[in-house]
Amino acid sequence: MLRIPFPEILAVVLTLCGTSAAQAAVQTHTVTNYLTHCGGCHGIEGISGRTFIPVLRDQVGVFSCSTEGRAYLARVPGISMSLIRDDQELADVLNFVLFQLGGKSTPAGTPHYSASEVHELRAHPISTTDLLSLRAAVLSRAQASCPH
Ligand code: HEC
Repeated sequence: MLRIPFPEILAVVLTLCGTSAAQAAVQTHTVTNYLTHCGGCHGIEGISGRTFIPVLRDQVGVFSCSTEGRAYLARVPGISMSLIRDDQELADVLNFVLFQLGGKSTPAGTPHYSASEVHELRAHPISTTDLLSLRAAVLSRAQASCPH
């Protein structure tokens, strides 16, 4: 059945982020950015279905267990080359992906991405002819570094 989870996502985000109206506006903008620029491929709730596009929900956080994996997340083409050109806005979307969609897969204590970190990383988009092999290698090394 078709569901429209936008209000749900928004409610979660607003609850987690306190009551400030300014913060709420940033969060709304971040979710809208995700839906506009990422959701078409990754699904509005981070579940892309049976495609080659990775599921983000409850999974993406594993990458942040290694420095290499953390860099990978900001360097994948969908992110580094995103039409979201503002680094802070992109960092907000990446943090939304990691800390909201990623759920428990993101280890406690993982730092948020800053605009300057995103700026550095997106300047070096991944360039390889075999992204899926690279992804598998980065993922298995990150998995091995996760706290157990
Ligand atoms: C055209 C479809 C498409 C769009 C749009 C897109 N992505 Fe992706 N994304 C992919 C594919 C495919 C991969 C797998 C790696 C690759 O082949 O680039 C990926 C990988 C990722 C990953 C790494 C997760 C993993 O398991 O490999 C993250 C995080 C991610 N995308 C987030 C985003 C965000 C955030 C946006 C919006 C700013 C976005 N993507 C836009 C298709 C897309």
